[in-house]
Amino acid sequence: MKKLVILGAGGLARELANAVADINKRSPTFELLGYLDDEKEMVGQKRLQLPVLGTVDWLAENKSADLWTISAIGNGYLRGKFARITEQNNVPLATIIHPRAIIGSGSSIETGVFIAAGCVITVDVSVGQCALVNMNCTIGHDASIGKYVSIYPGARISGEAIIGDYALVGTQAAILNKCTIGRGAVVAMGAVVAHDVPDYTLVAGNPARAVKKVEKQ
Ligand SMILES: CC(C)(COP(=O)(O)OP(=O)(O)OC[C@H]1O[C@@H](n2cnc3c(N)ncnc32)[C@H](O)[C@@H]1OP(=O)(O)O)[C@@H](O)C(=O)NCCC(=O)NCCS
Repeated sequence: MKKLVILGAGGLARELANAVADINKRSPTFELLGYLDDEKEMVGQKRLQLPVLGTVDWLAENKSADLWTISAIGNGYLRGKFARITEQNNVPLATIIHPRAIIGSGSSIETGVFIAAGCVITVDVSVGQCALVNMNCTIGHDASIGKYVSIYPGARISGEAIIGDYALVGTQAAILNKCTIGRGAVVAMGAVVAHDVPDYTLVAGNPARAVKKVEKQ
């Protein structure tokens, strides 16, 4: 069993803990120790019966050869920050794929990724480090999902689409095949994207139109 701590102690962290429990029901894989969160008032509280063990400093004080972490924070920039702290502490990033997600042949999933229940990722898709693919998303053949990307529930990403690092694809958004979503761009909930989206641009609506620029974080 790999010891695992989840970075973050909010709703997504509980969803991830639930996915870990579902993995363990099929095949005991992780001993989930609890959560870390930089909001100090959370430390000592419980989430699904497991404790918030400390702030992220806990890692430096408690790292051991068999300890793994994964971030459960909706903001991709914060997942990137925590991935760097994890790497500095030589603690490996776990990849959590819910047993009811389908990953097709030739697809590659990097470390620190969480793929939630009901996702279907078809063939020859690449998913970059610490990307979040929330429940019931579909990702078509040859799509490329960058690092620290956040894909929210029910999003539809068509074949050969490219999603740039740190981009966010909102709930139920749909992206036409071969479209490129730029680095740090935001696709609003329910948007239908038929054209490339420039870096750090928020698009919304059907057909999706640029609404404003997004701050780099
Ligand atoms: C796009 C989003 C990130 C908002 O970003 P924001 O920077 O706070 O933007 P604002 O709320 O200031 O909205 C900017 C404009 O876009 C519009 N807009 C925002 N979301 C929209 C949407 N989903 N569809 C259409 N228009 C939208 C707003 O009405 C506003 O228009 P206005 O200036 O004419 O009033 C947010 O609306 C969204 O869709 N987030 C994804 C949420 C999600 O999927 N959550 C699930 C988590 S598991």
